[in-house]
Parts: sequence; C-alpha cells; structure tokens
Amino acid sequence: MSKSSAKPATIYLKDYKEPDFLIETVDLTVELGEEETIVTSRLAIKRNDETATKLSLNGEHLTLQSVKMDGHMLTPDEYSVTDEWLHLPVAAITSEFSLEIITRIKPQENTALEGLYKSSGNFCTQCEAEGFRRITYFLDRPDVMAIFTTTIVGDGDRYPVMLSNGNLTLQETLPDGRKRVTWQDPHPKPAYLFALVAGDLAVVEDKFTTRSGRDVKLQIFVEKGNEDKCDHAMTSLKKSMKWDEEKYGREYDLDIFMIVAVSDFNMGAMENKGLNIFNSKYVLASPETATDADFDGIESVIAHEYFHNWTGNRITCRDWFQLTLKEGLTVFRDQQFSADMNSAPVQRISDVQGLRAAQFPEDAGPLAHPIQPQSYVEINNFYTATVYEKGAEVIRMIHTILGEENFRKGMDLYFERHDGQAVTTEEFIAALEDGSGIDLTQFRRWYITPGTPEITVNEKFDAETGQYTLTLAQTNLKAGKDPEPLHIPLKLGLLDVNGNAVPFSDGPFKGETEGVFDLTKKRQSFTFSGFSTQPRASLFRGFSAPVKIRQESSDDALAFFFAKDEDLFNRWDAGQRLASNILLKQIEDAGDGTSLPSAFLDAFAETLSDKTLDRAFTAAALTLPGEQDIAQKMPVVDVDAIHRVREGARRQIGLTFEDDWRRIYEECENAPSPANQPASSSRKLKNTALSYLIATGQEEFITLADSQYRKSKNMTDSVAALAGLKDINHPVREAMFADYYEKWQKDALIVDKWFTLQAMATRESTIDDIKALMEHPAFTLRNPNRLRSLIGAFASGNPVYFHDKSGDGYRILSGVIAALNKTNPQIAARLVAPLGQWRRYDKDRQDLMVTELEKILKLPDLSDHVYEMANKSLH
Ligand code: ARG
Ligand code: ZN
Repeated sequence: MSKSSAKPATIYLKDYKEPDFLIETVDLTVELGEEETIVTSRLAIKRNDETATKLSLNGEHLTLQSVKMDGHMLTPDEYSVTDEWLHLPVAAITSEFSLEIITRIKPQENTALEGLYKSSGNFCTQCEAEGFRRITYFLDRPDVMAIFTTTIVGDGDRYPVMLSNGNLTLQETLPDGRKRVTWQDPHPKPAYLFALVAGDLAVVEDKFTTRSGRDVKLQIFVEKGNEDKCDHAMTSLKKSMKWDEEKYGREYDLDIFMIVAVSDFNMGAMENKGLNIFNSKYVLASPETATDADFDGIESVIAHEYFHNWTGNRITCRDWFQLTLKEGLTVFRDQQFSADMNSAPVQRISDVQGLRAAQFPEDAGPLAHPIQPQSYVEINNFYTATVYEKGAEVIRMIHTILGEENFRKGMDLYFERHDGQAVTTEEFIAALEDGSGIDLTQFRRWYITPGTPEITVNEKFDAETGQYTLTLAQTNLKAGKDPEPLHIPLKLGLLDVNGNAVPFSDGPFKGETEGVFDLTKKRQSFTFSGFSTQPRASLFRGFSAPVKIRQESSDDALAFFFAKDEDLFNRWDAGQRLASNILLKQIEDAGDGTSLPSAFLDAFAETLSDKTLDRAFTAAALTLPGEQDIAQKMPVVDVDAIHRVREGARRQIGLTFEDDWRRIYEECENAPSPANQPASSSRKLKNTALSYLIATGQEEFITLADSQYRKSKNMTDSVAALAGLKDINHPVREAMFADYYEKWQKDALIVDKWFTLQAMATRESTIDDIKALMEHPAFTLRNPNRLRSLIGAFASGNPVYFHDKSGDGYRILSGVIAALNKTNPQIAARLVAPLGQWRRYDKDRQDLMVTELEKILKLPDLSDHVYEMANKSLH
C-alpha cells in the first residue's frame, strides 16, 4: 500500500525472526458475489514463541466484519486494525486457540491482479508473493505452512467450474440454488501457494501414469472456444512429469493436476499446489496461431511450474530473501529439460542470449543485487533476471563443479532432508555438499555478490619447453573494493592450429580433451606442456560461468573458433564476438557497416555452407549480435550509430551472399528438415534468409515476403514476413499489417504480436505510430499482456526510438508508469528499469531520463513498488 507520508520501510534479511505463532489448519469459505465476496476463515493456531502476547496478522484492502477467538466474538476495542495489520491480544498462557475471521473483499475492483480478482468474467487468484493477505487476515509468510480446506459458494450458472488446491471432496447445490464445492489439500503449504478459480470454463483432459503406477488426472481449463489450443501444453506437461521422474526421481504427489489459463496475469504463470494458474500466453497454441518461439515458451513454462512441485512446493523458502532457492533451481531444471527435449546447444545459446540481454544490464546498473538480496522494500521488485536467470547459472555452476552423478546425490539428499520444510539457500548448499562430499565454502560467495565478474585472459607460450600458460584474473566492479575471489568453473579445451582437440598431457584431465578447472584465486595460472606449436584455448565452454571475458583476440583467432570449435556454444559465441568487434570498429571509424573484413566474410561463408549443422544453430550463428548486445560493449551507448552500422552490415551480408540466401530459402521451404531436426529449425533458417534478402533493399524480396505472408498457414512464417517489412515505408507493408489485424482481431494473443511488431519498428514515424497505437480501440493499460506488447516492447526492444533525442520515448514511458502506479503498481514498477539505465547514455539523454525519473518520484500516492525502483535508479 502507498503511504504518502513516510518513506516506505526497508526489510532486511538480518532481521529474520521465526514466527511467534504457527497456523496448523485453515478452513476457508469463500462466497463469491457480484458486488462483494465474503471470506470466512477458521484458523487453528499454535504458539511458537513463549513470550508473545500479541498476534499480528497481515491484511490489506480488506473490510473486517468480525473476529471470534475460541468461539467468543471480540469487540472492536479488543483488537486493532491498520491498513496492513490486524493485531490481536493473546494471553501469555494460551498455547493453542482458534480464530474465525470474516472479511469482505471486492475482486471486481481489483486491478492490481494480486489476491482474488476477475479476469474475463472468471474469478482467479495470484498469491505469490504477498497476495493472500488481500483475501483474508493471515500469517502471510512462507515459513507458516498449513493444511487448507477450501469451500467455494457461488452462482453455479455463472461459475459452473469451481476449483482450489488438492482434491474435490464435496459438491452440492444449496437450498438457495447456489453451488457449493469443497477442496482439501493434504499437503501443508504456505499461503502463497493457495489458489481459487471460478468461472464458465472448458476443460481438456488427459492422464499420466506415474512410474509407481498411479494414475493422475490432468486437466487444462481454458475459455470456451480454446479447447483446440491445448495439445502442446498437455504434451509438454506429460513430458515434464516423465522427465522429472527419470532425471530427478521425483513423482507427482496428488491424484489430480490442473492448469487454468487466464488472460489477465501479471507474470508468466504460478505453481499453486495442484492448481497452476497460467497467463494464457503460456498455454494456448496451434501452428496457425502461435509461433515456434511461443511453442518453446509454453514447453518451458509448463515444465517450470510443474517442476516447482518439488523445488518450491514440497520444499519451499523460509522467507523471500531465499527466492532464488526455488526460482534459480527451477529455471535450471526447466533449462535442462528443454535442452533434453530439443537441441542442447541451441537451447544453451538462447538461455545465454536471455541472460546477457536482461541480467547483465541489471547487474551492471543501479538495480544490481546479489541472487540472494540482503534487503528490499517491495518483494515483487525482486522477481528479477538476477534471482531467476543468474540464479539458474549459479546452480548450473554447482552442477558443473560436482558433475552429474554427485549433483544428483546432493539433490537426493536435499529432497530427503528437507521435504515438507521451508528452508534457506544455505541449507540447500549444505545438502549438496553433504550429498556430494565436495566443499562449496568459497562457492557460497556467489549468493551474496552482485555484479558480473570480468575475467582477463593472458596466454604465454614457450617454444623451447613446449609449455603453454594461461593466466586468468577476476575482477568485479560491483562487488565492492577488493572483493574476495569467487569460485568459478572454467570448462576448457585446447585446439591445435588445424582446430583438432589436443588431449591434456598432464594434470587432472590427462588424456582428455576437455576439463573443468577451478578458478579460486584473484589471479591464477594453468600450465600445460607438450606442445610443438602454440595451442588455442577454448574458454568457458558452454558458458560454464556467468562472466564477461576480457581477452585481446584478433579477428583471425575469433574466426578460427567460429569455424572450428567443436563446442557449439563457443563456436557461436566466437562469431558474435567477431561481429561485435567489427561493428564497434566501424562505429569508431564513423563507418556505415558495409566494409566487412574478409576474415569475417570467409568464416560466415563457411558456416553458411556447412550442411552438417542443425539449421536452428546455423540461423543463430548467422545472426548478428543484437543492438543491445553491442551497446553493452560501448562506454557511452550511441543507439543511432549502432543501428546504422548493424543495418549497413546486414545489407552488405544480404548482398554478398544473395545467391546463398536464395538457395537456403528454397531448401528450407521445400525440403523437410533433416532427420533429428524439428520443422521449426528449417523455418528459423528460412526466415533468417528472408530477413537478409529484404535487407538488400530489392523490391523482389518485398514481394517474396508478401507471398510468404499470403501463402502462410503458420504463424511463424506470417510473423517473420511482418517483421521483415516492419521498418520500411511501403504499400505492401501497410496492407499486410492491416490484413493481419483484420484477420486476427478477435484473438488477443495474436493482436499482441501486431502491437509488438509496430512497437519495435524503426521508421521515422515510429513515435507517432506508438502514440496512435495507444489510442487504438484494442489498446488498454488494464491487460498486462497488451501493455507489455506495446509499451514494454517499445521501451526494451526499440533502442533507437525509445532513446529518441526529443525525449518523447522517455515521456511515453513515464506517462504510462504514472497511469499504472495506482491501478497496477507491480507492472508499473517493472517498467522503470529502462530509465534506470540512464548512466549509460550521453549527457543530453541522461538529463532527459533523470527528469522523467524525478517526475515519477513526485507522483501523488506513489506506490512502494514504483518508489523503490525509481529511487534506486536515481541514486
Ligand atoms: N513463482 C512464479 C514463477 O515461477 C512467479 C510468481 C511471480 N509473482 C510475483 N508476484 N512477482 O514462475
Ligand atoms: Zn518459478
């Protein structure tokens, strides 16, 4: 809640204290109404601190009707209520007692989408992190775990489907005609995993037989008419259930698993016990309506939420400072799963692209924080790329250091030791140490260290002794003065001049061609012997640590790895580094991107004609680093120069290899994907070719895009055609965008893409286009997906126009933040981050961005969420 008077309070990890009271059971009755909803909560409470004489329950936006303690109605002078608490006196001798609290709430007016709210006429909930306190007064903290029984009462015609966690135990029609159902969840859980859904929904059913032979009913609930778009989600769910049994030995633990897709949702999805609630974006798909990228997103989010059942629900977090305990670990697990289901190197490339695009800037800016933050104002602001994606990298490093077998032993011990508990990251690490027998003392520093470490690399070769010495030094500007070194796993391979792997002749990996070395000192050397010529080191293979490499590499050396490294991640990365270096050089020389050195063109040509590679890998390898990737390598970001040079290079590559692109387009269009490659790989490469052909500027390829669009029965190809033309002024472009809207206007997820494509366009009219789109009848600030599709995409995906010299881009964003501050502070706060990057730009832009941040801080009724983000961004 906003407190206009004082600065909001900061909460510190060091102040953690066990709860004074515990809640053993919760018996909830929720009477759904059109005006208001009445919640009756019966709690069995047990003392946990002998000295406590007061019980303080969290509660926000609630109207308290009555409180009974052990059956006695309390009079209002016996308790006190504030905007955030209900305080009840408890006699010092009382060890156990019951409470019955009746509150009234208005889900219909809940625009923050936290607690109980309505989406497209259906009731649904979002309780993580602290939404349950908007439903009833409660000890809303994850270390209070209770057994829930939930009864829902409401109009059975409007809400024939009534769901909550666990098993359905009762279903009846009341004398007054209302419907009543009761759900019982046998697993104790924190309130953040509570869920309730009521509405007129269709259901798609399937089943899964666990490896011990139990049948689990699987249900996906969607708005009517969407039943035919659930196949992929259902298949992904079954694959996830099987994978978790095989990979981690984890079986599902209820007889029913439900997923509900809702169209208004702040985040991606939520792992409520037995009743996951999803943003419909991560459920609904058919080839006609969703792109291949959407399909991948669904597979990984379905897996992510399912995997939370063990890493999050059975074992949960003691407090919210431990968020990465469940999120970092579960992202790591979903990444492993996706790598097993698809091409592992392509998956790894995309994971690292995501990390570099979102997490690296966060870690280099004013909002940098360790994966285990030490303080926060508003916990919702800490569902970050750092906690999630860097958190996953930290788990991956443990996996790399321990090795698969020891990692599994550690995980087994973690599950055995902590099942049913709310624990800390320290307890997690201790279990991995004990299970594997490998010491992680120094490794723990990753949890409390912000910033991306930079690794400086030096090589020395002594031709006489045949000794090759690699010296690596680690620094981290965000980690304070003279930080203690981190334990960093270095996966390393050595290559000879021809690119062949050379086995190590000594040391721990003698005879092998790849090994994981431990960097544990600030500066550390590794010497290898037995070489007649200087070997080349392939460093941090598979991105074995989330670091930045500082290494003087010649174009030739990078081209060598781009062409030869057997580690496909490093092969791709070398290509990206090579391209970045070339483009940065052109920017320095005020070039236009068209004169590309032959080292680059030759290596490019080699990859272009290599038919042994997965087409999706080829597409990634032949795509230039994004404008934001290049920006991260500039001391002062020049968005216009980056765009000019990168577009110039794309045009040049299009022209130089025009015949190859034509050939590739044809091959991918007409020949099916080679064995072991999904059809999506071919579409990816084909559309990469299309984009280079369009970049040549020749009319013929605008026609090609047009005919692809017209013929396409597949959303991937349609969107690729639109994306290919989005930046130009041409009647074909206008006709195509108009046709697309006309055709798909009834499907919100598809219209979102239409907004996004235009939000990311780089045409002179872009700013005016965005302003006009904000007035479009289909635009609304109320739906998070729609808002992100236009404003989010513009602010984070259109550097040229977001950073327009006029400052209009910044003003558009701050206007939206102001408009959302009260209605949906969570989403408003998320939009602040792009302005927080102001230190990276020139003085004029800095001033413009700071002006908007200051304006935001002066908003009336500024929410804690937005306050924290804007305040930290400025200071
Ligand atoms: N636990 C959910 C997930 O993994 C995210 C919930 C985010 N909620 C929030 N209020 N920030 O994926
Ligand atoms: Zn999660």
